[in-house]
Amino acid sequence: MLGFVARAMAKPGMLKPSHLVKPVSVTRIPGRYLVHQEGLPKLPVPPLRQTLERYLRALQPIVSAEELAHTQQLVEEFQSSGGVGDRLQKGLERRAKKTENWLSDWWLNTAYLEYRLPVVMNSSPGVVLPRLEFTDRQGQIRFAAKLIAGVLNFKSMIDNETLPVEYLGGKPLCMNQYYQILSSCRIPDPKRDSVVNHARSKKPPTHITVVHNFQFFVLDVYNSDGSPLTVDQIYIQLEKICNSSLQTNKEPIGILTSQHRNTWGKAYNNLIKDKTNKESVRAIQKSIFTVCLDAPMPRVSDELYRSRVAAQMLHGGGSRWNSGNRWFDKTLQFIIGEDGSCGLIYEHAPAEGPPIVSLVDHVVEYTKKSEMVRSPMIPLPMPQKLRFNITPEIKKDIEKAKQNLNIMVHDLDVKVSVFTHFGKHFPKSQKMSPDAFIQMALQLAYYRVYNRCCATYESASLRMFRLGRTDTIRSSSVESLNFTQAMDDPTRQNQEKVALLQNAVRGHRAYTDMAIQGQAIDRHLLGLRLQAIEDLTSMPEIFMDTAYAVAMHFNLSTSQVPAKTDCVMCFGPVVPDGYGVCYNPMDDHINFAVSAFNSCAETNAARLSQALEEALLDMRALLVQTPQSKL
Ligand code: COA
Repeated sequence: MLGFVARAMAKPGMLKPSHLVKPVSVTRIPGRYLVHQEGLPKLPVPPLRQTLERYLRALQPIVSAEELAHTQQLVEEFQSSGGVGDRLQKGLERRAKKTENWLSDWWLNTAYLEYRLPVVMNSSPGVVLPRLEFTDRQGQIRFAAKLIAGVLNFKSMIDNETLPVEYLGGKPLCMNQYYQILSSCRIPDPKRDSVVNHARSKKPPTHITVVHNFQFFVLDVYNSDGSPLTVDQIYIQLEKICNSSLQTNKEPIGILTSQHRNTWGKAYNNLIKDKTNKESVRAIQKSIFTVCLDAPMPRVSDELYRSRVAAQMLHGGGSRWNSGNRWFDKTLQFIIGEDGSCGLIYEHAPAEGPPIVSLVDHVVEYTKKSEMVRSPMIPLPMPQKLRFNITPEIKKDIEKAKQNLNIMVHDLDVKVSVFTHFGKHFPKSQKMSPDAFIQMALQLAYYRVYNRCCATYESASLRMFRLGRTDTIRSSSVESLNFTQAMDDPTRQNQEKVALLQNAVRGHRAYTDMAIQGQAIDRHLLGLRLQAIEDLTSMPEIFMDTAYAVAMHFNLSTSQVPAKTDCVMCFGPVVPDGYGVCYNPMDDHINFAVSAFNSCAETNAARLSQALEEALLDMRALLVQTPQSKL
């Protein structure tokens, strides 16, 4: 995921020197949290020579020998002593000294806020939760009430800074993202969006927003003594909301947020000219989170059910279904359908998947507990319905947004599958990293379908560092190509194939370790590029090179988002001819979500899913049938 920076980067003119750009403020949180944060190391700037060597190696499997030779020459010029590379590197090192994290603001702007395609499908990930056991309104709001109480329970850990610190490879992680996901919202702008966070404002919000039949409501979720509403109280309030929004002919105002960011930025300025509209929009933006009470979606077979829910989470099904039941700029929107479908969509700018999924794990556990708390008897006021004055111009903007969204909806090809034959246990039993094993299966699947490998992105966490986000693990490597080429070659012995697989898995795990320690190449190269723009230096040749464009064209954009809950995250491809692949490896099975675009004749989510399943099975068979002792 996040490979879309490649597209944002394709137009150098889009990036401005950062001194011309308003700094993006990071919410500061006093107390225990800050003490933890300040103990974290700062993100290093890797040595220039190391990155360039690794860059050339990463190009080997994906570009021709001639292209590689040409790039080699450009790299030599770039790193020649006293050359432009040295100058940019020194600039980055100075920036690293002056800032908390040399990358974080640049990354937020480049990867998210200046990115202009609709957040729907191009940026915002969804989460598909297991089907719930209700099929009516009552069940829907009963579950929604429990879910809301669960999120408020999680929020109390954020508010009083008792969230347990997470660890990766024995090292404590940056917890900042947890403080950015509630009470926040993206705000469009025709040039560059922003994110507002109200969690630490003087008067933090005490309400959530609930959407039903395209109508938005403010639901206050705290009693006057500051205690959160009980499940029963929330249930009563949700019932009132549903009963006062039974009409289904309302303008789907929220669909405006699915537009191209420039278009939405302009429509937004027009929308909030009206005072009532402005207040309604502010109430949504300020709310702690949003709950979308969806209408039932068309029934599909059990086989297709999870894929259908993934689409419902990613885009809502189109203007005739639930897409108007969203505010796509809202950081966190839980979606509960009347038919038992459940999940969420989140706006990606403030956080990666893991904090979102750990919130989900907490909430799912919470919803399983029986509620013992007795509700106060005081009746609660009717939740406030948010009004919108729809002028002819706004109506026109909504119609355009509907049309565009419906085109996008038709274009999304998504397949969610459960690989039931084994989970993390099998690769572990073979002394292999499960993540690397799955990534190599993906390489094999892609190679079998296309007879070549492609630039592959896997997100690696940089949260060992203060304000760290992600870097890229380049899963397509010399070692992975050696393995995928050998796997179906009848002239090669199984022993040799096993050795090549082991080597590829080891290589991938080594790249992962390098990435999480801040020594991968992608963010460093981005930094050098942005430094050149900031210095108003002409763009170095290595960034204008075809090989660079190939390296940044991620046909496979992948991410592991592990969860305790039997769920899976999903997201769209980052290039028109690519795939988005997300997976949750459980002990005995693996949940996969594969996406592609229907408008690309060469891609097909079901075909890649099938190839992935076969690759995993063939790799297991190879290992099981080739006794290790004979190696
Ligand atoms: N033999 C036996 N077991 C092994 C092994 C080996 N050779 N190598 C790893 N394992 C074990 C690990 O100890 C771990 O055990 P656990 O289940 O008890 O924790 C388990 O296998 C999983 O390890 P592995 O599969 O190697 O992956 P990981 O958990 O280290 O995750 C990344 C790898 C890249 C996913 C992780 O480092 C990361 O960066 N995650 C964040 C990704 C992200 O931000 N995604 C969101 C984008 S929106």
